Amino acid sequence: MSAESGIKTFRDADGLWEGHDVMEVATPEGFARNPELVLDFYNQRRRQLFEVEPNAAHKALAALEDHFDVSIITQNVDDLHERAGSSNIIHLHGELLKARSSYNDTDIFDWKNDITLKDRCKKGHQIRPHIVWFGEAVPMIEPAALLCEKADILMIIGTSMQVYPAAGLMHFAKPETPIYYIDPKPAITHSKHVTVIAENATTGLPKAIELIQTI
Ligand SMILES: NC(=O)c1ccc[n+]([C@@H]2O[C@H](COP(=O)([O-])OP(=O)(O)OC[C@H]3O[C@@H](n4cnc5c(N)ncnc54)[C@H](O)[C@@H]3O)[C@@H](O)[C@H]2O)c1
Repeated sequence: MSAESGIKTFRDADGLWEGHDVMEVATPEGFARNPELVLDFYNQRRRQLFEVEPNAAHKALAALEDHFDVSIITQNVDDLHERAGSSNIIHLHGELLKARSSYNDTDIFDWKNDITLKDRCKKGHQIRPHIVWFGEAVPMIEPAALLCEKADILMIIGTSMQVYPAAGLMHFAKPETPIYYIDPKPAITHSKHVTVIAENATTGLPKAIELIQTI
C-alpha cells in the first residue's frame, strides 16, 4: 500500500528491510543485543513518515467509505491510511507513532520524536517502538479475524503472505466471500472465489473497486 508513497516494503531488496536483516531489527533478541541500532532503525522509519504522503490507493480506500462499510487491517506501521481519511483501521504490527514500555506491553502512548536509551516510561522503564517483532504476540489478530469472518468482500493488497498469523487471515473469510488480491508479484493464484489483479496498488485497486460495484 505504501510502496508508491516511497516507503520500502519489508523484504524489498534481497530479503532485507532498508538494508537490514529483519532478524537484527525486528526481534526482541535483536533489541537486547543492540538496542541503539534497533532504536535508530525505527527512528529513521519514523522520521521518514514526515516526508511521505498517502498515495492514490490509500485515498481510494478512504473514498470507498461513501459506498461501503470499510474496515482496514494493515501490517503497515505508518499512518498513511489515517492521513488519507480512513476511519476503521487495525494495525496488526503496531504503529511507528506510538511507543511503549519495554516492561509492560499494555503501557502504550503517542510518540512522534526519536526514541533514545534515555527515554523512560512513567514507571521508569526503558521505552521501545510500539512494533510487533517476530516471535511476539499479535494482540490485534483476534479482532482482525472476526472482521474477516464477517466480511462480505475481502481485498488483500500488497503482501507476500509470508508472515503469520497475518497471512492466515484470508482463511477466516466465509467460503463464498469474494476475495480480490492486488499485488504485482502475487503469492497466490486465481481460483473460484479469488480474483488476482497482478498490478500495483494504485492501478489495481480502481479495477477491484469497479469489479465489486458489479457484485
Ligand atoms: N513490523 C513492521 O514494520 C512490519 C511487519 C510486517 C510487514 N510490514 C509491512 O507490511 C507490508 C506487507 O508485509 P509483507 O510481509 O507481505 O512484506 P513483503 O516485503 O514480504 O511483501 C511486500 C509485497 O508488496 C508487493 N508490492 C510491492 N510494490 C507494490 C505496489 N506498488 N502495490 C502493491 N503491492 C506491491 C510485493 O510484490 C510483495 O508481495 C509491507 O509493506 C511491510 O513493510 C511491516
